[in-house]
Amino acid sequence: MQKQEILAQKIAEANLGGGQVRIEKQHQKGKLTARERVHLLLDPGSFEEIGALVTHRTHDFGMQDQLFYGDGVVTGHGTIGGRLVYVFAQDFTVFGGALSETHAEKICKVMDMAVKTGAPLLGLNDSGGARIQEGVRSLGGYADIFYRNVRASGVIPQLSAIMGPCAGGAVYSPAMTDFTVMVENTSYMFVTGPNVVKTVTNEEVSSEELGGASTHSTKSGVTHLTAANDVDCLNKLKTLLSYLPQNCQEKPADLPYHLGTEIREQLENLVPESANQPYDMRNVIEGIIDEGSFFEIHENYADNIVVGFARLAGKSIGIVANQPMSLAGVLDVESSKKAARFTRTCDCFNVPLLVLVDVPGFLPGTDQEWSGIITNGAKLLYALSEATVPRITVITRKAYGGAYDVMNSKHIGADLNFAWPTAEIAVMGAKGASEIIFRREIKAAEDPAAKLAEKEADYAEKFANPYRAAQRGFIDEVILPKETRRKLIRGFAVLEGKVVEGPKRKHGNIPL
Ligand code: COA
Repeated sequence: MQKQEILAQKIAEANLGGGQVRIEKQHQKGKLTARERVHLLLDPGSFEEIGALVTHRTHDFGMQDQLFYGDGVVTGHGTIGGRLVYVFAQDFTVFGGALSETHAEKICKVMDMAVKTGAPLLGLNDSGGARIQEGVRSLGGYADIFYRNVRASGVIPQLSAIMGPCAGGAVYSPAMTDFTVMVENTSYMFVTGPNVVKTVTNEEVSSEELGGASTHSTKSGVTHLTAANDVDCLNKLKTLLSYLPQNCQEKPADLPYHLGTEIREQLENLVPESANQPYDMRNVIEGIIDEGSFFEIHENYADNIVVGFARLAGKSIGIVANQPMSLAGVLDVESSKKAARFTRTCDCFNVPLLVLVDVPGFLPGTDQEWSGIITNGAKLLYALSEATVPRITVITRKAYGGAYDVMNSKHIGADLNFAWPTAEIAVMGAKGASEIIFRREIKAAEDPAAKLAEKEADYAEKFANPYRAAQRGFIDEVILPKETRRKLIRGFAVLEGKVVEGPKRKHGNIPL
């Protein structure tokens, strides 16, 4: 055989992975193969493979006779929208995508290249876990990846797609990356599967219920996004990437944008007259940002806070917003964790933050206290306090109590703080406040209800507005809702050159 033919034959074999029968099985499950995924993810013709001819080195259990080029993972680099990215895609048709020592070496190689060259890493996971025939060498391979995930954290964006099984130790690599997208119905993630669960706890649970996309997008928050199928998943990775820079030393790329009048009348009258009436904070977001640019993260998890990326005059921003539609927008354990994580992700990748505030306080109760609302609420306070990206706050309605401080107040380093005329910035609501401070007076009154109403109205007039805070300079400007977009575009523009030097230390100690 000619030398060229030998090469062509090897490449053709590598391209077939575990063989045609297994490829068809993969398709029957509604899943694409690793190579199909990589080609759909990257710009056409941009993929350059690395390590296509790698094979494992195991001789136990007759493995020496089962060699597949690539060893169950396709690795290399290419471009997305012209930007360099590194990618690995586990090939379920080869030993169920199980991770061997060499499989891990291939992943580590592209991780190292991604860090060295300052380019994002995208991992497409579809694997039966540790290669059982290899024992501890496979476990070592996982740890080599985990270690690199941590070293790369905050340096380059790391995005994970879960497009099949992801169990046992395998879950910890995606868990340490910046974002996870799970495909509905064909993927699952768990530390131990249904059989082990049944043996240990006697619980009967299906894979989907235990660790499917719907579970992790609503109950646990382990996944940031879900996708209807493989194609949708790959598209979501691309969209997500568009809001992020190549690495921590760069800013996200701007989209072309031509400034207009930038007055948005639809923002007027969005906040209801009554302080207790809910409204959808997403309408405020849509009213502020470039049309159709909101890309929500964790949409169905802890929905009393809304987080996501958007564009403002073509620039990528991160939004953290209380959601009065759910639990009146209160801060609780889950919403604090969700917002803290998103804040830190934006901060490490130079995405400016917009914080929209309508918060009645922290959720009271034994459940919250015993679940550590103190430590978890502190996460958000800490994350916002340490963020050095440009930070702007808009208070639309309530900013009560400690939650006022937490939600990007001036005191914790926000750069510009705006309030709408409907803002109420106080220690608590007028009724609660009056009941406490005028308790004796109300009790002694001939008509206690009337007295309470009188005191409540008095307190509301004094404090249920933005003007006390504006007098102290805690609010920079009280603005009309329709002007918000214009103010924010200008605000972020003047903050573009913001530089904050932190104190010298090894690293802070965020309450975990
Ligand atoms: N190590 C080595 N080979 C593995 C493997 C592993 N961890 N997981 C799967 N495979 C192989 C299977 O032997 C099978 O090989 P074949 O194509 O030569 O028959 C192939 O991958 C596909 O697996 P199969 O079980 O037929 O696919 P499935 O879709 O029915 O089930 C799993 C997928 C992941 C649920 C199932 O394979 C499984 O439970 N694997 C073991 C998971 C595990 O315990 N991993 C170790 C701990 S991290």
